[in-house]
Amino acid sequence: MKGKNILLCVTGGIAVFKAVHLTSKLTQAGANVKVIMSQSAQKFVTPLTFQALSRHDVFIDTFDEKNPAVIAHIDLADWADLVIVAPATANVIGKMANGIADDMITTSLLATTAPVWIAPAMNVHMYDHPAVKRNIERLASDGYQFIEPSEGFLACGYVGKGRLEEPEKIVTLVETFFNRQERKTRLSGLHVLITAGPTREKVDPIRFFTNRSSGKMGYAIAEEAKKMGAYVTLITGPTSLIPPKGVQVISIESAEEMYEAALNYYDKANIVIKSAAVADYRPKIVHNEKMKKQEGPLTIEFERTTDILHELGKRKNHQILVGFAAETNNVTEYAKSKLERKNLDMIVANDVTEKGAGFQGDTNKVTIISREGKEKVYPLMSKNETARAILNEIELLLQGDEQ
Ligand code: PMT
Repeated sequence: MKGKNILLCVTGGIAVFKAVHLTSKLTQAGANVKVIMSQSAQKFVTPLTFQALSRHDVFIDTFDEKNPAVIAHIDLADWADLVIVAPATANVIGKMANGIADDMITTSLLATTAPVWIAPAMNVHMYDHPAVKRNIERLASDGYQFIEPSEGFLACGYVGKGRLEEPEKIVTLVETFFNRQERKTRLSGLHVLITAGPTREKVDPIRFFTNRSSGKMGYAIAEEAKKMGAYVTLITGPTSLIPPKGVQVISIESAEEMYEAALNYYDKANIVIKSAAVADYRPKIVHNEKMKKQEGPLTIEFERTTDILHELGKRKNHQILVGFAAETNNVTEYAKSKLERKNLDMIVANDVTEKGAGFQGDTNKVTIISREGKEKVYPLMSKNETARAILNEIELLLQGDEQ
C-alpha cells in the first residue's frame, strides 16, 4: 500500500483507541493517512494523537479551511484512494444511509468517488436494532463495503457482536484490496502512452475547428492500464474529464502539439495507443486578431496536419503501436488499410454510425484487428470494458513476443 492515500473517518465511540492503532499500522505500511474526527470522537482521544501518528493535520471542522487554495472536504474526498470509517457509530451510519451531510466527515463521504469501507462498532443491541440493520442494508445496496464487527467483550459490559475489527485485520484487508487493484499483469511496470480527446485547430484567437471526441475512450484506457500496473502517460486534447489517479497527464490543444508530446515520450514507451481524434486539416493561416465579418461567403484554406500515427509507425523499433479507426462505411476495409499503411500492430475499428458506439457516450462497439488480419468483433460494452478488451489483446501480443 506504499504511497496509497487513505482517508480515515473517526466517529465517537470507545473504539477510537483502535483507530489510533490503525493509523499507526497503516502509516508504518507506507500509506499516506489523513484523519477526520467527529465532535464526539474528540471526547475520547485528542486530534493531536492522530496528527502525531499520521504526520498530517487532522480535520475536525468543515469551515476550518486550512489551505485557502482548496475546499478542504472536496480536496480530501478527491485525494483519497480509499476511505475507511472506523469506528462507525450507529449515528454516522444513519446519516450516511440518509445522505445527511452536516459535518466534515459526512460532507467528505458524500463528495468522494473512492471506495468507502465502514467498520461499525457499538453495543450489541444497537447493532441488532432494526433501524441500524435497515441503514446497513441500504448502504450495502448503495455499494458501501462493511468490515463486520467481531464478537467479544464490549466496553458497555455486554458480550456479543459490536467490537471494532482488530486493526491488524483491517490492515490485511487494505493490503489485499490494493494488491488486487494493481494486480500483476504483463503490463506491470511497462510504459503505456495513450492519446485521448479531440484537437483544436485555431482560426483566430477565439475560433477553432474541433471534433466530437469527449476523451472518454482514451481516459478509460488510461484508467484500466494504470490498474494493470503500467506507468501511464496520457496526452490529452481539451476535455471536461477528470484524469484517472496516478496517471501522468500532458495537456495539448493542436495536432502539432500532440505530435511533439508523442515524440517526447515515444522512445521510453513500450506500448502506444492512439485513441485521440486528431484533426487531419488545420487552417493554413491563423489570424492574430479576431477575424471581422465581411460581406458574402468566407473561404478558409486548410492544410494537412502531421499524421502522428504514421510518423510513429515509421520510427517504430521496440514499441507495440495500436491505432483506432473511426469510420462510417467500409469500416474493416479502411481500418485494415490504416493498420498496414501506418505500420501498426493492432487497430481498433469503430463504426461510429452504430448505436452506442464511438463519440461521447459511455459505451463503444469495436472490432480489434491484428497485424495478421485476425478480426475479433466485440459486443456493445462500456468504454472501460472496451479498454480492458484492448489491453487484454495487447497482453496476448506481449505473451506471443515472450515465446
Ligand atoms: O473520445 P470519445 O468521445 O470517447 O470517442 C472515442 C473515439 C470515437 C474518438 C475513439 O473510439 C476513436 O475512434 N478514435 C480515433 C478517431 C480518429 O481520429 O480516427 P481516424 O480514423 O481519423 O484516425 C486513425 C488513427 O490515426 C487514430 O488512431 C488517430 O489517433 C490517428 N491520427 C489521425 C490523424 C492524425 N493527424 N494523426 C493521427 O495520429
